[in-house]
Amino acid sequence: MFSGKNDDLIVHRRQNGAMTHQVARPGPLAIRRLTTVGGTELQALAALLIDCVDGGASVSFMHPLPLAKALDFWRTVAYGAARGERVLLVAEDGQGICGTVQLMLAQPENQPHRADVAKMLVHRRARRQGLGAALMQAAEQAAREAGKTLLVLDTASAEAERLYARQGWQRVGVIPGYALLPTGEPCDTAYFYKVLG
Ligand SMILES: CC(C)(COP(=O)(O)OP(=O)(O)OC[C@H]1O[C@@H](n2cnc3c(N)ncnc32)[C@H](O)[C@@H]1OP(=O)(O)O)[C@@H](O)C(=O)NCCC(=O)NCCS
Repeated sequence: MFSGKNDDLIVHRRQNGAMTHQVARPGPLAIRRLTTVGGTELQALAALLIDCVDGGASVSFMHPLPLAKALDFWRTVAYGAARGERVLLVAEDGQGICGTVQLMLAQPENQPHRADVAKMLVHRRARRQGLGAALMQAAEQAAREAGKTLLVLDTASAEAERLYARQGWQRVGVIPGYALLPTGEPCDTAYFYKVLG
C-alpha cells in the first residue's frame, strides 16, 4: 500500500479545527504533522493508544487504559506540539487516525543536534502494510528539517526492532526488566540510534 516515498510537500491547512502541515503522502494514506490538535484528533489518538495497550504493547501504560488517562496524555503531547517542543505526526485511513509517531525536539543545551523518537503506534487494523516504515521515514524527514543529525529511541517490541533495523538504525543494547508489559510482567528494552546523513 505504501511506497515509502515522501514527497516533501509542506502544506498548511485547517482540518477539523486542527492546524496541520502535510509532510508526506506515501500512497492512499496521508501522513501529516499536527501543530494544534482538535477534539476529533484527541479522541482518535486516545483510541489508538488504547488499542495498542489492549494489544499488549509496552508504551508507558498499564492495561486497561482508561479513556480519560489516554486523553490527558494526548493533551500533554498537544501542548508540546503547539510549543514546538515535539513533532507530532499522524497517519489516517478511511476510518481516521490509524498511526502516529513523535519526535522530541527539546533536548538539553549540550545536545541540540539530537532528537528522540517516541510513541510509534499503529492501530491493529492498519499493521503490516508499511505504515510503521512510512511513519519512521516521515519522522526522519521532520528531524532533518529541524536540523537534527542524531536520533535515539527505545523499544520493547520485537516487531518494532525489526522495523528499525530494516531502516538502518543501530542497536546499542538491551536493559533487562526496564519496564512492565501492560499486564504487569517485566520486559526488556532495546536502545537504538541513527545518524542522519
Ligand atoms: C511496531 C509497529 C509500529 C509496526 O507498525 P507496522 O505498520 O505494522 O509496520 P510495517 O508494516 O512497516 O512493518 C511490519 C511488518 O509488516 C511487513 N510488511 C510491510 N508492508 C507489507 C505488505 N504490504 N504486505 C505484507 N507485509 C508487509 C514488514 O515487512 C514487517 O514484517 P516483519 O514484522 O516480519 O518484520 C506496530 O506493530 C505497533 O504499533 N505496535 C504496537 C506499539 C509498539 O510497540 N510500538 C513500538 C514502540 S517503540
